[in-house]
Amino acid sequence: MRISVFGCGYLGAVHAACMASLGHDVLGIDVDREKVAKLSRGVVPFFEPEFDKILRSAMDSGRLRFTAAPSATDLADVEVHFVTVGTPQSATGYAADLSFVEAAVDTVLATVAPGTRTVVVGKSTVPVGTAEDLARRLEPRGVTLVWNPEFLREGFAVTDTLRPNRIVYGLSANEEHARRGQAALDAVYAQLIAAGIPRIVTNYPTAELVKVAANAFLATKISFINGMAELCEATGGDVVDLAEALGHDDRIGHRFLRAGVGFGGGCLPKDIRAFVARAEELGAADAVSFLRQVDAINQRRRDRVIELAERSLKGSIAGARITVLGAAFKPNSDDVRDSPALDVARRLHDRGALVRVCDPKALDAVHRLHPGLATERDPLRALEGAELTLLLTEWTEFAELDPVAAADRVSRPVIIDGRNALDPGRWRAAGWTYIGLGRWFPAGSALQSPRQAYREPVVTVQRRKPRRRERNSVPSRADRAFTRPVTALGDRVG
Ligand code: UGA
Repeated sequence: MRISVFGCGYLGAVHAACMASLGHDVLGIDVDREKVAKLSRGVVPFFEPEFDKILRSAMDSGRLRFTAAPSATDLADVEVHFVTVGTPQSATGYAADLSFVEAAVDTVLATVAPGTRTVVVGKSTVPVGTAEDLARRLEPRGVTLVWNPEFLREGFAVTDTLRPNRIVYGLSANEEHARRGQAALDAVYAQLIAAGIPRIVTNYPTAELVKVAANAFLATKISFINGMAELCEATGGDVVDLAEALGHDDRIGHRFLRAGVGFGGGCLPKDIRAFVARAEELGAADAVSFLRQVDAINQRRRDRVIELAERSLKGSIAGARITVLGAAFKPNSDDVRDSPALDVARRLHDRGALVRVCDPKALDAVHRLHPGLATERDPLRALEGAELTLLLTEWTEFAELDPVAAADRVSRPVIIDGRNALDPGRWRAAGWTYIGLGRWFPAGSALQSPRQAYREPVVTVQRRKPRRRERNSVPSRADRAFTRPVTALGDRVG
């Protein structure tokens, strides 16, 4: 099949390369010339495991190319146009911004030749009702629309594209267009369907709803366990044990029950807000009003980490040297969109803390967005002189840090484990004060009980008396390591 893919972000670039790997001829289109130039050289513009191999082999096969300015000839004989552009939260409210989807459809309409049987396949996450509106523009011009939502997770994008757990087609109410759309997608996904991947054929609104309902369910599951973490903190319960016990009921399951600093990323937070906004427009606000609570619980977890940091530092965040392990919204990604880790780091920095952020893949994005934040790629160097350590993205290299070596680097061994990813016993044995979110530890274990953490200062901070040099407001060596001249960072950002 001759295919185009509009939008070469995490979803589109991976989709384009995977479709080429299935034997199709693919043209990837993106307005970002720099991204197009990189992809054209086989260079992955973001971090996504496995993607570089599939991209390079697709480029070598000659079946994949990218452009920022498709000509009419480029698009003339495309049989299937995939729309994989972003639908970010709009600048003015909770609703999704559909301008990129509209622009892609405009481009198709501007180039489609009369009498051709072109099919447009929407994969972007859109408010329910969008497909019907778009079909009203496309069908009179002979163009068929199918809604084919995407469920891929960042970090597993290639696997989720080539071995999805289901394929959903939302078809037109017009029989001829429905038949044509289904035939085109069956041809595109022939190998996946032959491999037995379940295919659900339905109408437009259901296909659109499947996507947001899935993300709303996942967000609800995370906020549910984080709500339980709040109750554990108020009662002396332990949320890790609670989740373990709940998950053994296979109607509940263990996945997405990890309590911590909450969910972020380019999807879950904005999708639940757009869902609420759309339900309100439809007069069905009550049906999803619980998602406001889901969002609120999620935001409170970030506040809770800051509150624990403040208590641990006896109220004096300003001037405290804090190392934040993690910037990406989750491990195996360099994406910092609505990242809880980066949000907490930025808020502590805004309150005057000397924050140093460590992340294996996301530091370029940190420099770009928050040039005032100091960064360090190596975790042990990042810990040098820290008075407080926060683990906020559970990269394996953080979860596997040696607590003894880590204790040697910090000036005060206190860690807030915002992902409940560390072994509290090991960290405690190495002399650390370990604070988990929603955790409880047996009396006398010297592990901090969350109840105490809630009501009392976690530790007494013995701030040493400033040396004379510091009294004259020259930063100490450790302080200097925590601050970086903004000009140097500016140079980096260009
Ligand atoms: C999510 C969905 O999982 C995908 O199915 C969907 O296709 C995608 O959004 C999308 O709409 O495009 P993704 O944003 O890549 O995928 O990330 P997730 O793996 O869902 O994680 C989301 C957030 O939840 C992360 O910040 C993660 O740290 C957090 N999380 C996850 C928890 O706090 N606890 C958990 O137990 C699981």
